[in-house]
Amino acid sequence: MATPSSFEFDGDLIAALRDARFIAVLTGAGISAESGLATFRDAQTGLWARFDPRELATPSAFARNPKLVWDWYAWRREHVAAARPNAGHLALAELEQRVPEFALITQNVDGLHQRAGSRNPIELHGNITRVKCSREGAIVRHWDARPDAVPHCANCGALLRPDVVWFEEMLPEQALAAADDAARRCNVLLVVGTSAEVYPAAALPALAQRSGAIIVEINPNATPLSATADYVLRGAAGVVLPALLAALD
Ligand code: OAD
Repeated sequence: MATPSSFEFDGDLIAALRDARFIAVLTGAGISAESGLATFRDAQTGLWARFDPRELATPSAFARNPKLVWDWYAWRREHVAAARPNAGHLALAELEQRVPEFALITQNVDGLHQRAGSRNPIELHGNITRVKCSREGAIVRHWDARPDAVPHCANCGALLRPDVVWFEEMLPEQALAAADDAARRCNVLLVVGTSAEVYPAAALPALAQRSGAIIVEINPNATPLSATADYVLRGAAGVVLPALLAALD
């Protein structure tokens, strides 16, 4: 494991990135922290330190109290709309232009990668800006927003819900298959701003490493991945990623 100080990157890491035919990236909430969006598990500031996921992010919570769940996601959607992509998101959009094959796998639901210019991120946990019918799953673009009630699907009358993956739900099949394929085939996997605790996303680095990829963790804090990653770059994504990109020039 190599830990650079003030981002003097290991020469072997830079060589591996320059030689890579396929770079994959797995991102988590940490990459959006510098855009002002709360992470989940950071002590005090994390969403799950302030809110109970069992009351807000499960199918049974929605069945019990749909209005509470709808309003919580509406509140987060407002934060996401007000946020802007940061230097970390922009660096990944730029990296995509520089390598023959690139895959960006994200656990984030905020859509900031797309707004930074990333072309086709694999969204493992959905996207908070989309709304779908809770019965049929069809994406709904327009709905009657009322302060006192959860809107209904115009087609079947069921409640509408955010198009995100809740605890106890399956991940979207296509996205998971695409992420799995990228992990198996990439030469380098950058793991950025994730606590690496939530499966199946957390299994991707080990899969990539078994398949021969070099694993690079970018995170200011230690995670369960730190011990096995080939390189650990301790710092904020918005600082480390632009520096890494500059080092490739
Ligand atoms: P977590 O909140 O679990 O982890 C965020 C990680 O980002 C931590 O390891 C922090 O150290 C790191 N971090 C904080 N600031 C950073 C910065 N500026 N640059 C880089 N890293 C930074 O978030 P996730 O790993 O994304 O799922 O959580 C995974 C899933 O758990 C989420 O997608 C969500 C949640 O429950 C669902 O809602 C389905």
